[in-house]
Amino acid sequence: MYRNPKLISLNKIGNNSIGFLSVVENNKEIPFEIKRVYWTFEVPENTKRGMHAHKELEQVIFALRGTIRFKIENLNNETFDFTLNQPNIGLYIPNKCWRDIYFSNDAILVSFASMSYIEDDYIRDYNQFKSNNWK
Ligand code: TYD
Repeated sequence: MYRNPKLISLNKIGNNSIGFLSVVENNKEIPFEIKRVYWTFEVPENTKRGMHAHKELEQVIFALRGTIRFKIENLNNETFDFTLNQPNIGLYIPNKCWRDIYFSNDAILVSFASMSYIEDDYIRDYNQFKSNNWK
């Protein structure tokens, strides 16, 4: 019924002498049409961000630099732990997933999102999320 978060591994194009490039396109590596891109940076070490779920938004997140840890919980009470620390490995987070996100202080997070920024798509109260009483 609910989809699970999963890692997305991109090709690294290049080699050690010239460096590498990775690429995403709509409905290919990213399993939806990208409507928005945002990034997060200069987050103090071990700060916890996220602490919300989305009603409809899906996203794919990359750690372009540093280490970013995710604790994700879905409405089936399943929990998932992921660590991103390679710029070619992304994390797909479906809708209806609570996420807590922990940053190293050098981390740069980039997110490709399926929707514009709509605050009403956020569920910021954990108990409300778990109650599934927010439609
Ligand atoms: P939020 O998504 O809660 O960040 P995080 O999950 O990293 O903790 O957003 C933080 C603030 O930024 C919040 O006040 C909403 C605002 N914001 C925008 O205005 N536009 C956006 O596209 C995003 C992602 C956030």
